[in-house]
Amino acid sequence: MSYQLLGDSIQIVEINQTIKQVAPTDVSILITGESGVGKEVVANSIHHLSKRNNKPLIVVNCGAIPEGIIESELFGHQKGAFTGAIDERRGYFELANTGTIFLDEIGDMPLSTQVKFLRVLETGEFMRVGGNKVIKVDVRIIAATNKELSEEVLNRNFRDDLYYRLRSINIFIPPLRERKSDIRLLFDYFTDSYCKANNIEYLGTDQDAMDFILNYNWPGNARELKNFCESILVLNPGKKITLSDVKKYLQIDASDTARPLPVIFSKSKENAEKDFLFRALLELKSDIIDIRDILENLNSAGQSSAGLFERDFTLPKEKILSMTMDEIEREVLIYMLVHNYRNVEKVAGILKQTPRNIYRKLKMYNIKPEEL
Ligand SMILES: Nc1ncnc2c1ncn2[C@@H]1O[C@H](COP(=O)(O)OP(=O)(O)OP(=O)(O)O)[C@@H](O)[C@H]1O
Ligand SMILES: [Mg+2]
Repeated sequence: MSYQLLGDSIQIVEINQTIKQVAPTDVSILITGESGVGKEVVANSIHHLSKRNNKPLIVVNCGAIPEGIIESELFGHQKGAFTGAIDERRGYFELANTGTIFLDEIGDMPLSTQVKFLRVLETGEFMRVGGNKVIKVDVRIIAATNKELSEEVLNRNFRDDLYYRLRSINIFIPPLRERKSDIRLLFDYFTDSYCKANNIEYLGTDQDAMDFILNYNWPGNARELKNFCESILVLNPGKKITLSDVKKYLQIDASDTARPLPVIFSKSKENAEKDFLFRALLELKSDIIDIRDILENLNSAGQSSAGLFERDFTLPKEKILSMTMDEIEREVLIYMLVHNYRNVEKVAGILKQTPRNIYRKLKMYNIKPEEL
């Protein structure tokens, strides 16, 4: 992992200035930006430019730790605190003492843990799970997320007090497509370091191929660019890179990427969202009618399949427009659960949410899948 955020765009130059200003202090930092923009590079850079650089940098991916054990992972536990806690254990905050902790995917931290985290942020104090002794640590906190935390606050997935506390110093890294002048520099850097590390000779890139690379919109940001450089070098040894080589990897027509996404015109953002959900519900309803027809035809034994479709999901547009977002979300969740065998993991996958998020919402809306 690189310690230096490369780029000569004005945005990256400014970010590097901010890094230099904040690194020597102990102030906590929130780093935001899309996936692959370099948030971890910034966290590394801050730690390495700080006076703690000879102390540990502990990296914790909050999204990857199951909700049930995240508190004990972060804050440690006493012996016998829960089944399986056969020994006392120090958590990441204690391991990071005198150094830095990098809490990645902070938007995925469960609400219950956020309370404890806010206290550490403010006082450096916490208690181990099952413990009654207050432990104080000296840890510099850096957090990162690719989520829009303000939206998470509105959706009640993230505490507002923690959000306001965290965002006081926010380093936002814009997507690569908004700082196109960095693409060439990063391309050269990634190809050069890969060739050196693997003893490969780089024979250059045709101009039209390079133009394509520079105009592509890189939805996966620098990570996608890095992977692209590595793949193209490995699979095209001993030759100059051509436009057709590049197109094999970046299949979207570069000119397409300049086209704006379709916009839903509506009086307010909320009504636009409701219109969108309304259309989604209509599509779901038409799917369900198709499935019902198929099932009824298949049901040669004459058993009724009505049980599966007891709920009425026919929501007229007027009704949707008078519902709150919470009510609509609740309807959609119930619908998805009923039609996915009450499988929360599956529903989470379809809705592109973490299962933990869906469980949290089920609790919030008092939905009991087993009763649907
Ligand atoms: N400006 C940059 N200079 C040098 N390397 C970079 C830069 N931006 C990104 N990279 C490289 O791109 C890859 C992705 O960066 P990083 O892991 O920091 O992204 P991220 O924002 O943390 O993404 P995610 O949200 O998915 O965790 C890494 O290999 C990193 O070294
Ligand atoms: Mg990251």
